[in-house]
Amino acid sequence: MFERVDHIGIAVEELDDAVERYRDSFEMELLHREVLADDGVEAALMGSGGARVELLAPLEADTPVGRFLARRGPGIHHVAYAVTDIDATLAELAAREVELIDVVARPGLRDSRVAFVHPRASGGVLSELVQAAPA
Ligand code: CO
Repeated sequence: MFERVDHIGIAVEELDDAVERYRDSFEMELLHREVLADDGVEAALMGSGGARVELLAPLEADTPVGRFLARRGPGIHHVAYAVTDIDATLAELAAREVELIDVVARPGLRDSRVAFVHPRASGGVLSELVQAAPA
């Protein structure tokens, strides 16, 4: 079902600072940066070799990532798994009665399609499914 970990999502207070820190401390390169207005978040995808982290900063306090920061502080926000067919994966998870936040996929970074699985269904960590845009 899951091919590999696509990225780890990390909630941060301030995106420029976090990008600089990951670049200067860990030699991770900024691969992509995008505002997802519907999600109230700006994301920066950082990479090194096969490692990927998605730094997430809220656009406003009253957004999912803003509320996450207020409640728990900066840290791991979600684990994302790569899937080849997100529609089939969601159907299979629904058939298994896995608690989904998104029953249908929605737009993600870089024209990907994403859906979230409730933390209650995955050991207290929000899980994301990612189907990459066709090459
Ligand atoms: Co993500």
